[in-house]
Amino acid sequence: MQAFVRALVRKRLDTRSTFLRSTTPYRRASSLSVLGNTIIDHHYDAIVVGAGGAGLRAAVGLTEAGLKTACVSKLFPTRSHTVAAQGGINAALGNMTEDDWRWHMYDTVKGSDWLGDQDAIHYMTREAVPAVVELENYGMPFSRTAEGTIYQRALGGQSLKYGKGGQAYRTACAADRTGHAMLHTLYGQSLKEGVQFFIEYFAMDLLMVEGKCVGITAMSMEDGTLHRMFAKNTVLSTGGYGRAYFSATSAHTSTGDGNAMVARAGLPLQDMEFVQFHPSGIYGAGVLITEGARGEGGYLLNSAGERFMERYAPTAKDLASRDVVSRSMNLEILEGRGCGPEKDHIYLQLSHLPAEIIMERLPGIAETAAIFAGIDITREPIPVLPTVHYCMGGIPTNYHGQVLNVDEDGKDTVVEGLYAAGEAACVSVHGANRLGANSLLDIVVFGRACALHIAQNHPPSSENLCIPESIGFDSFRDLEKILTSPGKSLTSTLRNDMQKTMQTTTAVFRTHDSLSNGFDALQSVEKCLSTDLHVADKSLIWNSDLVETLEMRNLLTCAVQTSKAALERKESRGSHAREDFKERNDERWMKHSLTWQKKAGDKVRWGSRAVQMQTLDEDECKSVPPMKRSY
Ligand code: FUM
Repeated sequence: MQAFVRALVRKRLDTRSTFLRSTTPYRRASSLSVLGNTIIDHHYDAIVVGAGGAGLRAAVGLTEAGLKTACVSKLFPTRSHTVAAQGGINAALGNMTEDDWRWHMYDTVKGSDWLGDQDAIHYMTREAVPAVVELENYGMPFSRTAEGTIYQRALGGQSLKYGKGGQAYRTACAADRTGHAMLHTLYGQSLKEGVQFFIEYFAMDLLMVEGKCVGITAMSMEDGTLHRMFAKNTVLSTGGYGRAYFSATSAHTSTGDGNAMVARAGLPLQDMEFVQFHPSGIYGAGVLITEGARGEGGYLLNSAGERFMERYAPTAKDLASRDVVSRSMNLEILEGRGCGPEKDHIYLQLSHLPAEIIMERLPGIAETAAIFAGIDITREPIPVLPTVHYCMGGIPTNYHGQVLNVDEDGKDTVVEGLYAAGEAACVSVHGANRLGANSLLDIVVFGRACALHIAQNHPPSSENLCIPESIGFDSFRDLEKILTSPGKSLTSTLRNDMQKTMQTTTAVFRTHDSLSNGFDALQSVEKCLSTDLHVADKSLIWNSDLVETLEMRNLLTCAVQTSKAALERKESRGSHAREDFKERNDERWMKHSLTWQKKAGDKVRWGSRAVQMQTLDEDECKSVPPMKRSY
């Protein structure tokens, strides 16, 4: 027994040592000192930026394949935003209803309003079943059926038999804490594999040599040391940028860091106009109430006590896709049927469900509703409002996770050495609107895809990097400039201006006027950021003012490109509802938008690339031709 305990302690110490080893500098570069700091260099086979589900799954796969892998994260891994995912992960396991991954593929293409790339959707939905089985084998504690198989619930936009056979129960879950269960499982695997973590390091810029990515610059938030991290392959898995808005279900740390690193490197972002509003954010607090609540039998009510979704989506009702439900809720409010004294929200009714079902399947939201709305969901409805939840747009990639640019003829080109996965990426499997529970799926499938592609194409011994000595110095000088900038405007003020602008001008419904007012207002914020910024704390030790400024700069890059792309797209598709262009226009707009802006104040360039309408193999799975979307 004593020997067993000693072995366990030794094992724990070994695991801990992965952190200690990781902070040992590989080599010091003496030619530059910024703010009294010498730059510390590190060399790896692969670097993963971000430690949410996508980052951890990529890091596990890379390390397993024998690549020396660093995972750089501004948060302790189990605090990443994946932890907040509630409803579940889609896979056609067929445990509750008959199912087929091709039906999942059909639903995802339809959900995307035909802006999703069908080769990538084919890949994701086919790989969903092995991905969930793999998580189960890693030890993820899924909820179970009476027979012991993985429990699956209904979620929005899921059908049987290519939309002709009723509601599919496709969402595997761990009660309403699925992201929490997944993140802890993957973190455990990453420790087992020996991923080398750089925790509470803020990634700043990409290191680029002749169009190829060779690593990143980063700052340790704890001691202010500055780092260059070199690797033949870098995976960006930094999450979304929901915090560009005032009210969002996203963590305050969802600040589009990877997207902005890509933009500063002169590369495009894709489909930034598509921002998802989740129908059920708690009114006033914005905190998420899972769509699983409606999947378990909850429904929405207006002030007349009417189940109004029956009018907007006669078949799927409350389980229509999120863009449809959010728009319907806003219309009810605009037409005077909102709830509460100000008629400005909607009720989510759950109290008709048996209390034991609520406590078994929705314990997390029972607690959340009690804390943030003072509601006992077994007795009263929850006041809810559509709230920013997910960014469909991001860094363009193919289904291997390789980052894409376009050449002068508009043809796709691969950015060597650079990959992206998860909400930071735009693969694009979600197109103009993501289906609930396809996000946890996306992160594990494409985190794994990045690892597989890197491992197959870049074994540890392959060619050496040839890198100029001064690479990355601009990034550090930039940091110095921000820290010492002599202006008067506080980051908190600029952030508030940006968030309020996005919330009021680039919301569920948009017009040319609202969007162009928003774009002008964001340009004023950019001007202030570049000419009048004031960072009060001048130290480099846990300088939250500085880190929030870096995050704010990243958010602003994302916000400006969202606004520009929304202004350009003159149609309504998925989450992008233009009141002045109410219809989808496939002839002109069935294409991805691309936007470029290197630094605040630069003109935003706009372009486009084709949507991939073919599957990976038409014999295995037929592509879904465009049609009118109804639920
Ligand atoms: O409603 C939810 O549980 C959210 C799930 C998702 O965004 O995938």
